[in-house]
Amino acid sequence: MPGNREQGTIVSDVNADNDVLRVVGGKPLSGQIKVRGAKNFVSKAMVAALLAPGTSVLKNVPEIRDVRVVSDLLRLHGVNVNFDDAKGIITIDASHVDLADVADVDTLAGSSRIPILFSGPLVHRLGEAFIPSLGGCRIGDRPIDFHLETLRRLGATVDKEHADGIHITAPNGLHGAKIHLPYPSVGATEQTLLAAVLADGKTELSGAAIEPEIMDLICVLQKMGAIISVDVDRTIRIEGVEKLKGYEHTALTDRIEAASWASAALATRGDIFVKGATQPEMMTFLNVFRKIGGEFEVRDDGIRFWHPGGDLKPVAIETDVHPGFMTDWQQPLVVALTQANGLSIVHETVYENRFGFTKPLVQMGATIQLYRECLGSLPCRFQQRNFEHSAVIFGPTPLTGQDIDVPDLRGGFSHLIAALAASGPSTVHGISLIDRGYADFRGKLRALGAEIE
Ligand code: EPU
Repeated sequence: MPGNREQGTIVSDVNADNDVLRVVGGKPLSGQIKVRGAKNFVSKAMVAALLAPGTSVLKNVPEIRDVRVVSDLLRLHGVNVNFDDAKGIITIDASHVDLADVADVDTLAGSSRIPILFSGPLVHRLGEAFIPSLGGCRIGDRPIDFHLETLRRLGATVDKEHADGIHITAPNGLHGAKIHLPYPSVGATEQTLLAAVLADGKTELSGAAIEPEIMDLICVLQKMGAIISVDVDRTIRIEGVEKLKGYEHTALTDRIEAASWASAALATRGDIFVKGATQPEMMTFLNVFRKIGGEFEVRDDGIRFWHPGGDLKPVAIETDVHPGFMTDWQQPLVVALTQANGLSIVHETVYENRFGFTKPLVQMGATIQLYRECLGSLPCRFQQRNFEHSAVIFGPTPLTGQDIDVPDLRGGFSHLIAALAASGPSTVHGISLIDRGYADFRGKLRALGAEIE
């Protein structure tokens, strides 16, 4: 889908034809694919462009639906956005910012959690912001209490009494504050950064998240003129500045997509070179990949992942905030673990409800038992709270093709991997959900030799 995409609001590009994928599994995936910038960074960097009355240029941008949704949200606010999807370059001119029509924002935002991050930049530019009810994957409650508390501490008035969403105002601007996050939330850390960079005075954020995508956002903000330091104890200090300028930046690679293809190589006994994958952000994943018995080779321009033949080994893992094992790596890897010889244990500590995707895997032949207990070295926030957040996977079990409904982005890609590893045909419904975060995955699957229709 090459070319410039300058105009037009794309609320949905889904139709019945592109929403079902027929997969004939049982063939190893092998070949080379390219992964571009991280979905969970690019969308935030696009919001950061709102902070400066000038032009920002972001490179290595993936052609995914979340990028189009954020582009359209920016356009609703009068911002000029030009996406050259063939080159992966997005140019954002935020010289002019308007208040958007509430109903339009609501319609668009249905599929995304990004609108909450517009709060700080819009308050700085316009003195007010409107946040509609948020979308995103149904993998837990996903509250926004930390975000709203952060905004209040920085001096904003948060009005939740409106039926159509949350209104945030700060006629006298935002000011620096001391903020502590009860949990190192990625979104709330980004909220603080985007709101505090132009606030009056210093902000100290303790208990912050330090994911590589956040570090890259800090790099963008520093290029724009911000003063931000990160301490070893997860404290981020921001000295507010009076104004910021546009930036030029190349996005870090999507380590979730890279790990998804690595898991696909393992589950299908294949061999995939993921061009663009980088080692530092994937170290924790690579350790686990090696313990399971997967082979990898780090090259200058990417990482090759392959199944060396023979049995895979079971592992015990716990998901965690960075530098721990990412929650978003868990789902695709679980599919590979159904093929490991023995009992694997996965303790999910970031989201309370991220194992729903295992039910279709069980229907395909996997043996996976869910537990409410914390099956890990330490009890997590979900202890004694009735959430099935630990999984025991017994393998190897042959998988057979099924009819599958995609539940959420990562769960959906995992189902796709399972269908590719399974013998016989599968029909995967709701496949367009995967377009939110995996650019041209149909083309990439074909390039790897998958039989899909
Ligand atoms: N939380 C609260 N209150 C808040 C915010 C978060 O209780 O105000 C809790 C959440 O319910 C969750 C935990 O804190 O249990 C972590 O949530 P976090 O805020 O870190 O997640 P997020 O910012 O909403 C981003 C990614 C997710 C990724 C997580 C963790 C984006 C758009 N999303 O979500 O990515 O799993 O960080 O790394 O950046 C995905 O890409 O499929 C995806 C879900």
